[in-house]
Amino acid sequence: MTVQIIQTNPIEGQKPGTSGLRKKTRVFMQEHYLENFVQSVFDAIDGAKGKRFVVGGDGRYFNAQAIQTILKMAAANGAAEVIVGQGGLLSTPAASHLIRLNGTDGGLILSASHNPGGIDEDFGVKYNIGNGGPAPEGVTAKMLARTLEITEYKVSDAADVDLGLIGEQTLDGMVVRVVDPVADYKALMETLFDFGKIRALFAGGFRMRFDAMHAVTGPYATAILEGTLGAPAGTVINGVPSEDFGGGHPDPNPVWAKTLMDEMFGDDAPDFGAASDGDGDRNMVVGKQLYVTPSDSLAVLAANAHLAPGYARGLAGVARSMPTSAASDRVAAKLDIGSFETPTGWKFFGTLLDAGKATICGEESAGTGSDHVREKDGLWAVLLWLNVLAERGQGVSEIMADHWKTFGRDYYSRHDYEALPVDVANDIMDDLREQLDVLRGQNVGEMAVLAADEFSYVDPVDGSESHKQGIRIFFEGGSRAVFRLSGTGTEGATLRVYLQSYVDGAGDLFVETQAALEDVRYAAAEISGLARTGRDAPDVMT
Ligand code: G1P
Ligand code: ZN
Repeated sequence: MTVQIIQTNPIEGQKPGTSGLRKKTRVFMQEHYLENFVQSVFDAIDGAKGKRFVVGGDGRYFNAQAIQTILKMAAANGAAEVIVGQGGLLSTPAASHLIRLNGTDGGLILSASHNPGGIDEDFGVKYNIGNGGPAPEGVTAKMLARTLEITEYKVSDAADVDLGLIGEQTLDGMVVRVVDPVADYKALMETLFDFGKIRALFAGGFRMRFDAMHAVTGPYATAILEGTLGAPAGTVINGVPSEDFGGGHPDPNPVWAKTLMDEMFGDDAPDFGAASDGDGDRNMVVGKQLYVTPSDSLAVLAANAHLAPGYARGLAGVARSMPTSAASDRVAAKLDIGSFETPTGWKFFGTLLDAGKATICGEESAGTGSDHVREKDGLWAVLLWLNVLAERGQGVSEIMADHWKTFGRDYYSRHDYEALPVDVANDIMDDLREQLDVLRGQNVGEMAVLAADEFSYVDPVDGSESHKQGIRIFFEGGSRAVFRLSGTGTEGATLRVYLQSYVDGAGDLFVETQAALEDVRYAAAEISGLARTGRDAPDVMT
């Protein structure tokens, strides 16, 4: 077994975004492609020599093969140890936990999150730093710079490691420790939640459906919900990870988790429904005939977290991404705790969590989490909901009605226009930008514009600045429209239009959200000249 030094050339377009490098799987499978990026990651962190890493992924097509390559490259670069999930599986939050628990230097997570998997779909690689969170911009910029100048990479020609075998093996002198992907994560959850109470809830006949969407949370949800908490077999559906997620789109929202939605809105619906995405960091929560928006879920969890043992001392603060509704701000105000509005992307929560300024964070895109790891965590959110349901002895709709009565309610929806020609999307944003000053005071349809701006952020911990983070239009009465371009799409440009409208009180509990948002939708379309997309309707409404 020897280290091979392979000559290579920079490859165009290896630009790690907020969630690492995400490309079509076939792109990753090109000669030297994965290798170039992995070597650039190692080079960007001043080499891998003597370092320890966590490696795992969501089980999508190319996962196992990519892990073998990464292990051989880590060994050839002199890494001391790699901890890898059995079968190459680790959910993103579990990987974040393993990095923190073992004090490793960082970790490589293989996933394209909620994007479909398969040879013709998406793949991704992301580097997390020693705090367990995504690499900050300074580090990803170094990776990008390195991909542009790389001339060689190192790889061992040793045989493949047996990823099925729990325990230690060595690869060219490097220790490879294959671990049960679930065990440590489950132990962490037991420190946060009252498993006894949740067990009693299930024993009392509480019915739940968890849709793992053929993705990585299957083994976690099965072990925890059915194995430990006593939920009946069959509570978890689509629980075996598959390389193409059963041909589906592992994004837990009402559109892609339709099977679950149909069951929750049907006769004989279970008490509680939930789903998680490809790599297990996103979540969806739904009650009988009642979908809980991620913005509301964040607010409800913030208001009730003290009912779970891990948060009994109360929260330091709540952080949300800018497009997320203001529901959690009102909770923070009432609790008299910190409240933060950050740009889109989990990495912006990292400094707040590390500094102890925020305890719970969330995004409208179905991400919720806390300071227990440095990633959003789908199953964590579901377990916190279960803990709250068990403590309060109420159903989801009672809890929501009570919450809205106390804090008011935001109708909320995100409209996505996918795979637009890049120039059309840029024109829409540029034209909006130019109008910001003149919009104020205008009436558009039924709506009066109060203010308009482009969101900028100064990190209160490290002072770093982020600009052009989305255009916000505020209307009288608490409605808002936000426009931003996606940073994670892999085809053309995706325009996201976030719509929200506030009512004081609970409103009509089972109102049709899109109908409640019609006036703000109309105004947003008029102001942005959305007709230019040539689309009659958004591709996805969540
Ligand atoms: C999307 C979501 C954002 C999330 C990110 C990674 O990014 O909108 O909230 O943090 O995926 O999961 P976008 O495509 O909008 O840039
Ligand atoms: Zn994800």
